[in-house]
Amino acid sequence: KKNIGILTSGGDAQGMNPCVRAVVRMAIARNCNPYLIYEGYQGLVDGGDKIKAAKWSDVSGFLTLGGTLIGTARCMAFRELEGRRTGVLNLIKNGIDALVVIGGDGSLTGADKLRAEWPSHVEALEKDGRISKESADKYRTLMIVGMVGSIDNDLASTDMTIGASSALTRICESVDAILSTALSHQRAFVVEVMGRHCGWLALNAAISTGADYLFIPEAPPKNDDWETAMCNTLKASRDAGKRTSLVIVAEGAIDRNLNPIKAEYVKDVLAQRLGYDTRVTILGHVQRGGAPVHFDRFLGTMQGAEAVEAILRATPETPSPVIGMLENKITTQPLKEAIQLTGEVAASIGRKDFARAMELRSNAFGQ
Ligand code: F6P
Repeated sequence: KKNIGILTSGGDAQGMNPCVRAVVRMAIARNCNPYLIYEGYQGLVDGGDKIKAAKWSDVSGFLTLGGTLIGTARCMAFRELEGRRTGVLNLIKNGIDALVVIGGDGSLTGADKLRAEWPSHVEALEKDGRISKESADKYRTLMIVGMVGSIDNDLASTDMTIGASSALTRICESVDAILSTALSHQRAFVVEVMGRHCGWLALNAAISTGADYLFIPEAPPKNDDWETAMCNTLKASRDAGKRTSLVIVAEGAIDRNLNPIKAEYVKDVLAQRLGYDTRVTILGHVQRGGAPVHFDRFLGTMQGAEAVEAILRATPETPSPVIGMLENKITTQPLKEAIQLTGEVAASIGRKDFARAMELRSNAFGQ
């Protein structure tokens, strides 16, 4: 019988609530004890009433709501060794022997670090007399399961992260709305979408809204004079009768020399070189807000259920897994590898090896 702690961390994402609900209810169904940890890793560090045993009814209504109802934080204290040690103490005090973390790349990196350090924390806490020898013996290892809750769809080893589908739906609705006013005025719009260093949202938004031009970090413009290439493309479609122009810019977009490409600059180029009446819309946090679409409710629920199964299957030797989805199947893979592969994307971009970056993104980016 496992005592399973659940927390959400980093930027919230639609689908986190369905995922928390599924972990709690699957844990109860499998005769385990779920614990809700409030405010992400901060709750782990603070302890006290931030860690509470959960009942079936505590997650009623979670399925359809956006954000994360158990709170999240970008916690500085947890980045320090002492903060993580206090977190370990609070887990042990509550008898928690498995931890489910739902978060993005950074949060899961933190989880992986905690797992690796765990034995040394337990040893130090015993040495300091903060826990007894019996407790130290009982909690020599901690099982950590990661699930990727992030609108960015930026983690390797999964086709889709929880929240990406809802954010993309919101982007499409917003761009559709923008296009109706753009059409009336024959305007050009430059729309900036989120995604941090990942271009998945921008790429999929561009395909789904019929954008004329797109900038993403993994595939910068091949031409150094991309301004001319962009203007030629947009002009050609106007000449063919199109009344609007739409450029989508990922917030992390760069050129081949790794200089940022910003929406305002793109607007100036279009206005000055082509004389288009051009506006910028930065969609911002509206992309992360609101109810999860069907797919994120489904993904969160399936993965949450699998997280509990993964905990029950694990032995002390099992590497911490991350639950994902590949080719429509829920998967369980080593967390460490997923984190390493994800790190390689940024490293490839840093070396200007964009082909490798795209290859690493291939499971989520498709063709
Ligand atoms: O990781 C999710 C995300 O929304 C990114 O797309 C964006 O860059 C970042 O978080 C914004 O962070 P914050 O909510 O802290 O401003």
